[in-house]
Amino acid sequence: MTKVEEIIELAKRRGFFWQAFSIYGGQSGFLNYAPLGVLLKDNVIGIWKRNLLRHGAIFLDSPNVTPEEVFKASGHLDRFSDIAARCRKCGNKFKAESLLKEKGLIPKTSEEARELLMANRIKCPVCGSVQWDSYDFNVMFKIQTVDGSNLYLRPETAQGIFTDFKLLLNFNRGKLPMITAQLGKGFRNEISPRQGLIRMREFNMGEVEAFLDSNRVNFPVFPSDNMIRLVPNSSEETDLKLSEAVKNSMMGHDHAFFMDVAVDVLKDVGLTGSSVRLRQHRKEELAHYANDCWDAEADIDGEWIEVIGIADRGNYDLTRHQQFSGENLEVTDDGRSFTPSVIEPAFGIDRICFAILVNSYRKRENGYKYLSLHPDIAPYHCVFLPLQNKDGLDALAESIFSEMKKRDPRVGIDQSGSIGKRYARQDEIGTPFCVTIDYQSLEDRTVTIRERDSTGQKRIRIDDILALTVEEGKNPFSALYS
Ligand code: GLY
Repeated sequence: MTKVEEIIELAKRRGFFWQAFSIYGGQSGFLNYAPLGVLLKDNVIGIWKRNLLRHGAIFLDSPNVTPEEVFKASGHLDRFSDIAARCRKCGNKFKAESLLKEKGLIPKTSEEARELLMANRIKCPVCGSVQWDSYDFNVMFKIQTVDGSNLYLRPETAQGIFTDFKLLLNFNRGKLPMITAQLGKGFRNEISPRQGLIRMREFNMGEVEAFLDSNRVNFPVFPSDNMIRLVPNSSEETDLKLSEAVKNSMMGHDHAFFMDVAVDVLKDVGLTGSSVRLRQHRKEELAHYANDCWDAEADIDGEWIEVIGIADRGNYDLTRHQQFSGENLEVTDDGRSFTPSVIEPAFGIDRICFAILVNSYRKRENGYKYLSLHPDIAPYHCVFLPLQNKDGLDALAESIFSEMKKRDPRVGIDQSGSIGKRYARQDEIGTPFCVTIDYQSLEDRTVTIRERDSTGQKRIRIDDILALTVEEGKNPFSALYS
């Protein structure tokens, strides 16, 4: 099994995610978050939201179903398509870009895709044939009302924000810059959905649209000025602080600001160092609305996968909605009227969750697996384990558990199986701390706390657990093991 296959197996067995509708054979591109996955995803979303609130973001929640006019204006109806490659022998269909990615080729048209597939003798992954047809395929799901109006499931949440721009600006007392954000589902009729949470037909997005005046610097102070590996489209890759990248004219200041925000979120969920990089899109890769785009990519078992796209959309969307709706979407500031520009960091919540699982997966020398999840995002912060289910150890464990869960609901109790089995079970779901209640606990009100990665143990006082300060989004038990 590959590492990714092992994680998918663990995710199903331990309850992070699994195939949706499996009793009917499943449906490709649709997964369910299982009980632990829901908790992990909630923690990722919490970190996303808290980071944005710190920067003064305002939030919107708009419908998944969107009228056709919106996507006519946004350009998605005409241009949001993938090039499909169909094997002439077995009839299976693939995304042409994925087949050609290994060769570093990005086709611009379906005709070019077919030529490149044939010229490079790209084999059909199913039957090995090298004979291809290709065609454009709009990836939006179309639906209809009873009266025949055309509607679409949104392929991005962003358009809900653009169409509400005036209302949001009014709410923001007319002030720019304005950071808006929306968490929600996106839908794309992917030609070839991928294993795991990477490419699904229904997925979770955390999109941010920052409206600004492109004639000035809008966000002067970087939140962290992170040092990160940068892969520009026209020069060598390099490790740089984002402020230095701006000085080197690799990107605009406000664009870099939101790359910094994106890297902060990744750091908070535990994706750091060499597992993350920022890669600039090549011209032919850019979405129809983007002037420039850098992807925050995570290393997923040797493959760089986009987890956040940070696009400079200029004033493309507002200009188009102004033209199509007839509404004036200009802003007047200091006597000057202009259509605001947009920087959009779009967070792929599922991909971030998957990258977290892959990058935290470890094996001990004895072959036991564990997830080295950041303590703040683990589904359970700490689990209480009575050494035996008798002699008052169970009652003492229950009393500590019920006291703590009132304050930190992300605690658990595990009473079944040997202590070794219980540690192994908690390690596999990434629980950072286990507190074991043993016979000494009855005498001196002390317990052991075991840290997952090192498996080291310390003796601590029960009263120190009960006195922990609980802060939103933080694992309070980290304070007991430092
Ligand atoms: N709005 C960004 C995206 O659709 O990927």
